[in-house]
Amino acid sequence: MDTTIEELLARRILTGRGDQTIEVEVYTADGFGKAAAPAGASKGKHEVAFLPEGGIDAALSAFERLVSPELAGVDAAEQYAVDGKLEEVDGTGRFERIGGAVAIAVSMAAARAAANTLGIPLFRHLGGAPARTLPLPLGNAIGGGKHSRGLGPDLQEFLVIPLNPPDIATAVLANLEVHKRALKYIVKADPHFTGGKNDEGAWTPRISAETALKILKESAAEVSKEIGVEIGLGVDAAASSLWNGSKYVYQNEGKERGPREQLEYMARLLDEFGLVYLEDPFHEDDFQSFAELTSRFKDRLIVGDDLYVTNAARIERGGREGATTAALIKPDQTGTLTRAHEAVKTARRYGMRIVVSHRSGDTEYDTLAHIAVAFGAEVIKTGIVGGERTAKLNELIRIGDYLGKWGRISSL
Ligand code: PGA
Ligand code: ZN
Repeated sequence: MDTTIEELLARRILTGRGDQTIEVEVYTADGFGKAAAPAGASKGKHEVAFLPEGGIDAALSAFERLVSPELAGVDAAEQYAVDGKLEEVDGTGRFERIGGAVAIAVSMAAARAAANTLGIPLFRHLGGAPARTLPLPLGNAIGGGKHSRGLGPDLQEFLVIPLNPPDIATAVLANLEVHKRALKYIVKADPHFTGGKNDEGAWTPRISAETALKILKESAAEVSKEIGVEIGLGVDAAASSLWNGSKYVYQNEGKERGPREQLEYMARLLDEFGLVYLEDPFHEDDFQSFAELTSRFKDRLIVGDDLYVTNAARIERGGREGATTAALIKPDQTGTLTRAHEAVKTARRYGMRIVVSHRSGDTEYDTLAHIAVAFGAEVIKTGIVGGERTAKLNELIRIGDYLGKWGRISSL
C-alpha cells in the first residue's frame, strides 16, 4: 500500500452558515481522502490567518502555485512531513501566505488519505492502537453573543454535558433531549419566541443569561431523572467579544463590568448554577484573571479558547501560570494536525483536560469526531442539532459501534 501523495485538488465549498471555505482532496496511488476547513465567527486575535490577503480566490491560487506542487511526493502517512511542508511553503508562521483554511484542509485530507490507503479508521491512524475512548459531548442549547446578532443573552453559549453516560449514544441523546425540553420553558419566558436557532443550532430567545441557565438547569434535571444520567451545565462567555479595552460591556443587560466585577460575576455563575464548564470568562490576554478564578474553582473545567488559540506556546504560559484546568483544541486555529497535537501534549504536561471543538461555521464532515478520539479528548464540543453538528455526533456513535465492548467513554 503506497501512501505517497500523487495529486491534490482544492475547491471552494460552503459551511452550514453559508461562509465560503476550502475543501481539499488528496490522492495516493492506492487511496483517497478529503476534508474541509471550518470557519469561526468569534475568532481569537492570536489565531493563524484564515485566508490570505485577497480572500478565498487568493487561497485557491496559493494552493495551485505553492501547495499542490510541493506536497505531491510527500508521504501522507507521515503527518509531520505533510504539515512541515505546509509551514515551509507558507513561510510566515501564521499561514498568511496560503491561509489557515488551505493548511488545515490539506493536513486533514492527507490524514484521511493515509488512513484510507492503509484501510484503517482515521482515529486509529492518528491515535494509534490504544485509542478507544470516546469523548463526552458538550452541546450548545441556548445561544447569545455574536452568534445571535447581539440580540440574545450577552454571554455566547449555554451548554450541557452528560457526566456519567453508559455509552456515547445515550450521551448524544441526553443533550438532544435537554435541547428539546428547553423550548417548553423558553416560550414561557419569551412568549414572542418563534423557535429561531443560531449558527450552532442553539435556541436564540431574548432572555437574560440567568434565565437561560435556570431553564437549562430545570430541563437538565428533568432529563437526568428520566434517563438516569447526570447532566452538567456550561457557559462559553467568549469574553473577548464583550471587552472594549477597559470593561466588559453587557449590552442587553445594560451593564458594564470591570475586570474585578467580571471575576466576581463569573464566580457567582459557577457557584449558583454549579457550572462544570466555563470557557473564556475573561478576554484573550488576561492570563492573570484566569489564574485567579482557576485557583478558586480547581474542580471545574475552566477553559481557554481565544486565550490559547490551540497554540502550544500560549498553553505553556497558561500551564505555568495555572490559568486553566482545560484547553480547547480547534485544529484550524493553528493550521495543522501536528501543531494541534503539540498543543494537546503541552496541555497534558500541565494536567489540563482536552476539549476538541468545532467552529460556529462548520461543514458536513465528520473528521473532528476522529480527531477527538485520536487525541484522547475528555470532551468534544460540537453542538446538538444541525447537519454539520450531527455529522460529528453520528460518527462518534459509529465509532462506538466499531469499538464495541472494547470501547470506553470518558469521564471528567
Ligand atoms: P467561533 O467561536 O465562532 O470562532 O467558532 C466559537 C467559540 O467561541 O467557541
Ligand atoms: Zn469559545
